[in-house]
Amino acid sequence: MNELDNLAEAARAEFAQAATPADLENAKARYLGKSGRITELMKGMAALSVDEKKTRGAAINLAKQAIESALSQRRQALADAELDAQLKAEALDVSLPGRQRGAGGLHPVSLTLERIEAIFGSMGFEVAEGPEIESDWFNFTALNTPEDHPARSMHDTFYVEGGSAKAPNLLRTHTSPMQIRHAVQHVKRHRAALDAGQGMPEIRVIAPGRTYRVDSDATHSPMFHQCEGLWIGENVSFKDLKVVFTDFCRTFFESGDLVLRFRPSFFPFTEPSAEIDIQFQSGPLAGRWLEVAGSGQVHPNVVRNMGLDPERYIGFAFGMGPDRLTMLRYGVNDLRLFFDGDVRFLSQFR
Ligand code: DAH
Repeated sequence: MNELDNLAEAARAEFAQAATPADLENAKARYLGKSGRITELMKGMAALSVDEKKTRGAAINLAKQAIESALSQRRQALADAELDAQLKAEALDVSLPGRQRGAGGLHPVSLTLERIEAIFGSMGFEVAEGPEIESDWFNFTALNTPEDHPARSMHDTFYVEGGSAKAPNLLRTHTSPMQIRHAVQHVKRHRAALDAGQGMPEIRVIAPGRTYRVDSDATHSPMFHQCEGLWIGENVSFKDLKVVFTDFCRTFFESGDLVLRFRPSFFPFTEPSAEIDIQFQSGPLAGRWLEVAGSGQVHPNVVRNMGLDPERYIGFAFGMGPDRLTMLRYGVNDLRLFFDGDVRFLSQFR
């Protein structure tokens, strides 16, 4: 092997050693660069005769071509390797299971509220919503519960800014204020007909929502839900309350033989008043009386505060606890589970 063949062979070996494109370019410079070996050899020809230059130049050129082709082969090999590595790194295993988004679900109490609205909706009840920050008037006074009424003490709540010193605003302790709010709007819409003695369409409404009291244990939460019901007309009686509420409970619990008991009680805004108890005839709760709502015939003072004549308009109201209904329906024994936000609990209702 002559000296030029050795040079080309050395270059090929060095190129093969280059692990990166940058290494390769450095190696290239050592042979083909400005002061590289081939360039030096070219310069060394200056002293040769014309004939010598011809043969020597041709030989150097051959070596140069060999080095250049070794270089481009190695370049291609490095580029191929890089692409290979990249493809491997970005490989997509289409056989892996997909990343799941997870289906959300409604909160169990929301499911109950939807159910209540659907059942009462089928009986011709509208659904009304009202403010959670309520005035003393709507929460108490208009509901026949004046300032010094002892029933107020059972409704200790959170007072907020606004209102007057004597009658501060508060977080509503029940949904009953919606009786007044809704009825007043209804009466306003039909004022002219009422004044002309033509009467008005019946008021038939439920009002679900959040309520607040200073209370906290396994069956009481400072925030809880209620759903108010109100039916006012010229000829609405306690019998209608019994029919409506019995139908509701049997549909809600999908239990046709469920029995109701109306137990005499007291509320300032109804007279007479009753607690409603239910009893399942089968299942884990069979035979026990379970309280689910307060109810009664709307007190004449309350009818008057609605803007109606209590001699002409009469009806009933009820207030039930959707949280408790949810606990009974699903067999949950601690109310706090509903408000802890633990998905392990909540996902069971999807
Ligand atoms: N507002 C009552 C409470 O929170 C529940 C209630 C009782 C509502 C009787 C009514 C009713 O509409 O007629 O304790």
